[in-house]
Amino acid sequence: MAVKVNSAFLDGFVREDELTNIAPQCALAHEALHSGTGAGNDFLGWLNLPSDYVTGAGDFKGELARVKAAAQKIRKDSEVVIVLGIGGSYLGARAVIEALKGTLYNSTAKKEGRPELYFAGSSLSPAYMNEILSLVDGRDFSVIVVSKSGTTTETALAFRVFKKLVEEKYGDKANERIYAVTDKARGTLKGLSDAKGYETFVIPDNVGGRFSVLTAVGLLPIAVCGCDIDALLKGANVAMKDSSVPDIAKNECYKYAALRNILHRKGFAIEMLVSYENSFMMMNEWFKQLYGESEGKDGKGIFPASAVFSTDLHSLGQYVQDGSNIIFETVVWFGKTDKDFFLEDEPDNADGLNFLSGQNMSNVNEKAFQGTLLAHTPKGGDGGKTPNVILEIPKLDEFELGYLLYFFEKACAISGYMLGVNPFDQPGVESYKKNMFALLGKSGFEKEKEILLAKLKG
Ligand code: PA5
Repeated sequence: MAVKVNSAFLDGFVREDELTNIAPQCALAHEALHSGTGAGNDFLGWLNLPSDYVTGAGDFKGELARVKAAAQKIRKDSEVVIVLGIGGSYLGARAVIEALKGTLYNSTAKKEGRPELYFAGSSLSPAYMNEILSLVDGRDFSVIVVSKSGTTTETALAFRVFKKLVEEKYGDKANERIYAVTDKARGTLKGLSDAKGYETFVIPDNVGGRFSVLTAVGLLPIAVCGCDIDALLKGANVAMKDSSVPDIAKNECYKYAALRNILHRKGFAIEMLVSYENSFMMMNEWFKQLYGESEGKDGKGIFPASAVFSTDLHSLGQYVQDGSNIIFETVVWFGKTDKDFFLEDEPDNADGLNFLSGQNMSNVNEKAFQGTLLAHTPKGGDGGKTPNVILEIPKLDEFELGYLLYFFEKACAISGYMLGVNPFDQPGVESYKKNMFALLGKSGFEKEKEILLAKLKG
């Protein structure tokens, strides 16, 4: 198994028999999920997605080959690629690219013979829009627009701007530079794509946005950046197999789901996903959307937070060590790195750091992890009272990341069912949209506008 759950630092928080006691609930959640009898059962397409995508089953017929071909074309004809999407329509792609290529992935684009790739359409900030627009100025570029509904304001607005730019620059060849990832039949974006002749890729009806990273939503931008999407899917397929057994004792994914539920029931309301790699920062964001939108409803749910240590030990560390006792940490620890850095000796030792010389920086990072683990948990005897679940992963590469994506998705679904919510809807996201449309004067919202304006006046 690529992800191993280490529960040794839950001593004093979770007893062995509690895992045994919760196992039947986990088995029930498994049964509901796999038999398709649970809430939200029309959104279970992600469950077999890694295998369906590779075999080209159903909506995915020919998709993988087309994704690879489109990625190759973009790599050849574009210096810059703009990926438009919000929430589940962009976080997964960005998370995987940054995790594999680093947060500064655009700085190595030229050297690696690939286009720079930027994300937009995930906010309404005019400043950001202007920054992104300046990046394509005078350069060959392509646009990947991702929206399942095809109507999300942030993405649609950005697409309107970039479509015009592409059309002005490439005229009747504009359609060769725009790629749409959307519903297979419905929606404004699908209609527009068919009318204009854009190449389209499908987000199936039964795959929700935050569970769609292993479709063209994630795979196309990831492949453009030169990451091995076959290995990513391979890892996800192994995770799919490993997490298919109902027995919690043989299923690390379910063990993680069960542990976080036990901790939640004991009052740990916040889960902080922690990594010791800067490049994991957007994976944290992907995780937060996955768990926040899936579990946070009906007045329930663990609040998903995140940190990158040791950086955030200098901001959030004080709170974790000594603040309210409501947080548990889930640490994602990668065993090996191919990108190590050797620390040399300095003859005069002016900075007093020679005790670090002659070793790899990964070793220093590991000691920071171990030191923090002992500081934050009761095991260290420093007064730490934060439960730590450790997810041990051999290394950070495509295979392991594909495994981890599926691992988190499956654990999220099982956790949601154990919590008693529908993990596959997001009714709460609609409220702000309704208000925003009314305040902007969209037709059909006239009455709401008056009411809201009066409320804003106080
Ligand atoms: O998980 C989800 O369903 C959401 O985050 C959506 O992905 C997000 O709101 C974007 O929606 P759409 O792809 O329809 O533009």
